[in-house]
Amino acid sequence: IDVRVRPDAEAAGVEAADLLDAAVLGRGERVLGLATGSSPGPTYVELIRRHGGNPSSPYRSARAFLLDEYVGLAADHPERYARVIRREFTDAMGIDPGRVHSPDPDAADLEAACRDYDRAIAAAGGVGIQILGIGTDGHIAFNAPGTPFDEGTHLARLSGSTRRDNARFFGGDPDRVPESAVSQGIATILRARSIVVVATGEAKASIVARLLASEPTEDLPASVLHRHADVALVLDHAAAGELS
Ligand code: F6R
Repeated sequence: IDVRVRPDAEAAGVEAADLLDAAVLGRGERVLGLATGSSPGPTYVELIRRHGGNPSSPYRSARAFLLDEYVGLAADHPERYARVIRREFTDAMGIDPGRVHSPDPDAADLEAACRDYDRAIAAAGGVGIQILGIGTDGHIAFNAPGTPFDEGTHLARLSGSTRRDNARFFGGDPDRVPESAVSQGIATILRARSIVVVATGEAKASIVARLLASEPTEDLPASVLHRHADVALVLDHAAAGELS
């Protein structure tokens, strides 16, 4: 894991944006794996600043696959990740909504929808560059501790700590955070050709230190990233605060 420490969240966003640009502009990657949540915010802001106004930006011909989607929110709920990503990133980048894909949490046959999602990613050529955040319990996407490394997209239960962490998006009330989500599995995520993990803020310092010190173990889902050949971990000083 290539660890890069920058002074603050904005500078970490610039660093992560450089890595995205290297993949998309430099290597010609056209399939983006996108995370929601707070961590990638400054990265998206920086990419929009660089490319949002450019009608011939290569990002406009990209496809994007989201990591996950809550189960049980109305289709027009503002916290549906399919809506969040349009609001925070893809619309301003000029990426057509038809090119932005997310797992379908409303499918009558959820297992079939999960298989279809993994197939759609493969049919698009696989994710060229995946952006990830890390949960304070070590989750990536919604793969909580204990999730088998070999699972593809699946129905995932949110842990109590994740629902508390995400309560800020639901009026501060953890009970309003959905109990489950459809999430890419660890096996899905590891198929991305390159991965950029962004972790910022003091609240991530402890999990970042544990992740870097850990062998790959299902007890700490993000530790699987040690098995991938092209992972950058972009931190700010606060998130790097417990590294020795
Ligand atoms: C979001 C996702 C989650 C978040 C993680 C960190 O699509 O898959 O795994 O990346 O919960 O969230 P933030 O960035 O809000 O701290």
